[in-house]
Amino acid sequence: MNASASEPLKFAYWVPNVSGGLVVSKIEQRTDWGYDYNKRLARLAEDNGFEYALSQVRYIASYGAAYQHESTSFSLALLLATERLKVIAAIHPGLWHPGVLAKWVATADQLSGGRAAVNVVSGWFKDEFTKLGEPWLEHGERYRRSEEFIRYVKEIWTSEHAEFSGDFYRLHDFDLKPKPVAGEGRAHPEVFQGGNSIDARGMAGRVSDWYFANGNSPEGVEAQIRDVREVAQVHGRTVRFGVNGFLIARDTEAEAREVLREIIDKADREAVAGFGAAVKQAGQSTGDKTGMWQDSEFADLVQYNDGFRTGLIGTPEQIAHRIIEYKRRGVNLLLLGFLHYLEDVAYFGEHVLPIVRELEAAEREKVS
Ligand SMILES: Cc1cc2nc3c(=O)[nH]c(=O)nc-3n(C[C@H](O)[C@H](O)[C@H](O)COP(=O)(O)O)c2cc1C
Repeated sequence: MNASASEPLKFAYWVPNVSGGLVVSKIEQRTDWGYDYNKRLARLAEDNGFEYALSQVRYIASYGAAYQHESTSFSLALLLATERLKVIAAIHPGLWHPGVLAKWVATADQLSGGRAAVNVVSGWFKDEFTKLGEPWLEHGERYRRSEEFIRYVKEIWTSEHAEFSGDFYRLHDFDLKPKPVAGEGRAHPEVFQGGNSIDARGMAGRVSDWYFANGNSPEGVEAQIRDVREVAQVHGRTVRFGVNGFLIARDTEAEAREVLREIIDKADREAVAGFGAAVKQAGQSTGDKTGMWQDSEFADLVQYNDGFRTGLIGTPEQIAHRIIEYKRRGVNLLLLGFLHYLEDVAYFGEHVLPIVRELEAAEREKVS
């Protein structure tokens, strides 16, 4: 067992900061995208085993997300409403200047005692850029810009005479004060990224601290991890891995499957189709065709990050075993979405998490 396999799995949840919940369906969803609900949820989540929360960034409506709270300001509000939760704010290079973002994170980190993190989103939604009057770069160029962005923010967070010279960004003898909170094992705020394409995997291996995979089978996730690790090794780095999953835990498997069936039966077909067309700008637009959503079926797209494919649907026992299967393949963190967040997060903490911890203890016993 490698070092990270002996560590307890970490859990994150998607912050429902856009309207319409995490599934593009007309099924009843008791999840609310407003602040009061989210504040309650964040506190509940940190008491139910969640170490991280991931805010979404969306500037305009798409596939039903008619209203959207901005990611960085919403993340800061959640940081200030909680005590231990680390909140990951999602940002787009191309819309943020890296120096301005680095400064924002340093302040958020100071205000929260070192709990701020970022998810660098390279973009799939062309309209978001063009409607804001910004150029839409081709896929590989978007990732080249994101990589510079990450190198730049890390330089500025850690150096007193920060220098950077790239094709997209420059920095001359810059001293950020105050710097973010540095501590044991944390030289700077953590940098997460998503994306399944070869461009995304390469960037993760070279510069990101965490690689997020869309929902996928254990084998599919393992292949992504292998690719990222190969690159990371060449650069003498360690990257950690998260995978997205939409979790439906019920007392019986039949009940859980029935919820999934209803979500898909009541899918907002028009919105799902629109989303399917928009995401062709992701990895599908590259020669290698390995990006997110390139082999997603209609039912997969109803959860817009392929969350059903992870198969976290069933009884607490079944789900816990499935989660351990991902851990065996190298996953360090499960990023979870739910239908009715308040109820489902409490159920997860009470019924699923204890079994995960028992199984982890049993695995440790086996190897010791
Ligand atoms: C866990 C996760 C979270 C993401 N969050 C966002 C988001 O909030 N907003 C957004 O526009 N894209 C988001 N993305 C999309 C990615 O940043 C990227 O644009 C997309 O994965 C396409 O990547 P690919 O072409 O490399 O496969 C997310 C992706 C993942 C895996």
